[in-house]
Amino acid sequence: MPRVRTYLMCPPEHFTVEYAINPWMDTTVPVDAALAVKQWDLLRTTLVDLGHTVHLLDPVAGLPDMVYAANGAFSVDGQVYGARFRYPQRSAEADAHRAFYAGLDQNSWQLVAPEHVNEGEGDFAYLPGAHGGLILAGYGFRTEPAAHAEAQEVLGRPVISLRLVDPAFYHLDTALAALDDHNITYYPDAFSPSAQRVLAQLFPEAVLADRADAEAFGLNLVSDGRHVILNTEATAMADKVRAAGYAPVHVELSELKRGGGSVKCAVAELRP
Ligand code: ARG
Repeated sequence: MPRVRTYLMCPPEHFTVEYAINPWMDTTVPVDAALAVKQWDLLRTTLVDLGHTVHLLDPVAGLPDMVYAANGAFSVDGQVYGARFRYPQRSAEADAHRAFYAGLDQNSWQLVAPEHVNEGEGDFAYLPGAHGGLILAGYGFRTEPAAHAEAQEVLGRPVISLRLVDPAFYHLDTALAALDDHNITYYPDAFSPSAQRVLAQLFPEAVLADRADAEAFGLNLVSDGRHVILNTEATAMADKVRAAGYAPVHVELSELKRGGGSVKCAVAELRP
C-alpha cells in the first residue's frame, strides 16, 4: 500500500555542469537548463498527482547542483541530521537546507548540525519497517564513515555501514533504494563483498538489479510503497519492480543525468 509522503525539491533554474565531481559529469557537453526545468516539473507534478506534498527550495545562482535536493539532509522521526558536503562547490547548499528546516515548526522538527562530511539522503536510506527502523548508509566516495556513527547518535536508529566500491555509483542512492518500509532493491557489485553479504543477510527478499539498471539510474528511484518513480531509460528496472508487485511510473530526466543524478537525487523526503 502507498503511504502519503512529504518531499522537498529544488527547481534546476541554475543547473549547469561547470565542474566534474563524479564520472557522469562532462563539462564539455552543454546542458539544456530549460529542458531540465521542464523534466523536473513533470517529476514534481507526478509526485503531487500521486497525492504527496512537495515543498520547494528556492534555487540559488552559482549552486548548479542544488537541484539534487536529496543531498541536503536526512530526517527520521522529526530529527533532521544536516549535510556537510565533500566538495567546496556544493558546501553552501547545506545552509539553504538548514534555513528551510529552521523555517518549519520547531516543535515537530529538530535540526542537528553535523560534524562529519555526509551528503544526506544521497548516502542514507531509511527502512521504518525493518527491525523496528533501520538506516542503511554508504561510504567510500562522499560520506565519511564517522558520519554513520554520528547519524546513529543523532537519530537513535541502527546504522548499517556499507562500503561503495564503484566510482560510477558514488552515492548509496545510485546503487540502492527502499521500495517500501521493509524491502530494498540494489546492485550488488556496487558494494564491497562484505557489504554484499550484509545486504543479503538483512534483505533476503531484495529485488536485485544489474549493472545496466544502475547505469540507467534505475536504482535512483523514489517509492511511496506502491508507486515506484524512475527514469524513463530504466525499462528493465521497471519490469523488475513490476514483477515484485510494485507499480512503476516513468519520468524522463535526461538532463539531470548529465550531472550524475536522477529521480531520487532530486527528491528529499521529510520524515516527521
Ligand atoms: N553533481 C552532483 C554531485 O556529484 C550529483 C548529486 C546526485 N545526488 C544524489 N543524491 N546521488 O554531487
